[in-house]
Amino acid sequence: MSYSGSYESFVVQREERRLSQRRAFDKQRKVIAEEEDYIRRNIAGQNSKQAKGRRKRLSRAPRLSSPTAEEGSALGLRLDVSARGGDQVAIARGVTLEVEGRTLISDFTATIQRGDVVGFVGPNGSGKSTFLRALMGERDVSSGELRVGGSVQASYYRQDMAQVPMDRTLYDVISDLRPQWERRMVQGHLARFGFSGDEAQRRADTLSGGERARVALAMMVLGRANFLLLDEPTNHLDIESVEALEDALGEYEGTILLVSHDRAMLEALTSRVWILHERHITDFPGSFTEWEEQSREREHAAAVTAAERESLRRVKEHKTTKRRETEGVESRAALREVRRRVEDSEKEVAALEKKVVELTALLEDPELYTTREGTAKSLLAGKELDEARRKLDIALEKWTAVTEQAEQLSAT
Ligand SMILES: Nc1ncnc2c1ncn2[C@@H]1O[C@H](COP(=O)(O)OP(=O)(O)O)[C@@H](O)[C@H]1O
Ligand SMILES: [Mg+2]
Repeated sequence: MSYSGSYESFVVQREERRLSQRRAFDKQRKVIAEEEDYIRRNIAGQNSKQAKGRRKRLSRAPRLSSPTAEEGSALGLRLDVSARGGDQVAIARGVTLEVEGRTLISDFTATIQRGDVVGFVGPNGSGKSTFLRALMGERDVSSGELRVGGSVQASYYRQDMAQVPMDRTLYDVISDLRPQWERRMVQGHLARFGFSGDEAQRRADTLSGGERARVALAMMVLGRANFLLLDEPTNHLDIESVEALEDALGEYEGTILLVSHDRAMLEALTSRVWILHERHITDFPGSFTEWEEQSREREHAAAVTAAERESLRRVKEHKTTKRRETEGVESRAALREVRRRVEDSEKEVAALEKKVVELTALLEDPELYTTREGTAKSLLAGKELDEARRKLDIALEKWTAVTEQAEQLSAT
């Protein structure tokens, strides 16, 4: 692909991201305004209790950052590497991962080489974060081997940002990582991440999601690691910060394993893609853009196959009806019974198909991933989608069986 081509798509992606963040922000602002209005109108009246409850909830809800950060607040983000590290950065051999007896990832083998930028994608709740935790040695694999390579220094940006110690001030957080630094150096570092003056004395547990994300980045910069494991690092960041992070990662000379739903970032950075789907990870040896092109083609092929299957089903159905019409009186009752079952089964299939479409649309909405509630919701929806797909498979099998039964009955 030519430079201009990919650059154009990069610009378009950035623009789309700005628009979608702007929409999400505006939407949230509208919801907040409506809530505040309700609270104002009801706080002293009959619905006072409810209004107070809502006020409490509203005060706790995470706020999206404005898509346009204040001037001069761009992050001072530069990611250096202190040592080159070994050639094999992460090794997975026959890895199977389970939670509570449920298999998330089955028999995965791959090696991340120095300099790779791996984009790791897959539905919410499929096991990406669990995989990263296991790679960092924080949880066991059920079988196989999973580890970072020799002389690899990893820095791990968690999805929940728990690497930021909650009970310390921002000043202490940075000073703990650089004990030899003088006061003004610690403050200077914090200022580069948007915390100036007294803000350095804030405790991490008073921070908003966006602020905590900036502290997490300020910590990551100091690590000078040669391997970054990033689990949805853009979730809480405003656009300016996302772009600063994207630029810094683009300049970074180490190896990256990036879990993200941000297509612009994936397209701009990745040289390789891992796609987690139904417990299997596909290791795609190209950029995210190339992967998208391939999967579009595959989706098209799948849509064609589905359409063919549907028309076959219609033909079959038609035949069944035809035969029913020529049926003798004695088997009418039996046929009616089977026909009823075919109908029920069809209804079930249709309902499940509808559910799958709806859940897929829901999960594809980028705005869902912009709030913590949304992320929780998407986890649930992801599970529901798996469940609906599984049920749909069963329902289709059942439908095939009763249809065949009906055909046999009409043939006799
Ligand atoms: N410690 C745990 N105990 C039980 N279930 C867990 C645990 N951690 C994750 N899960 C479950 O494992 C699945 C995968 O979660 P996760 O790795 O966070 O997915 P992803 O990062 O791909 O969205 C989810 O269904 C989640 O509820
Ligand atoms: Mg996750």
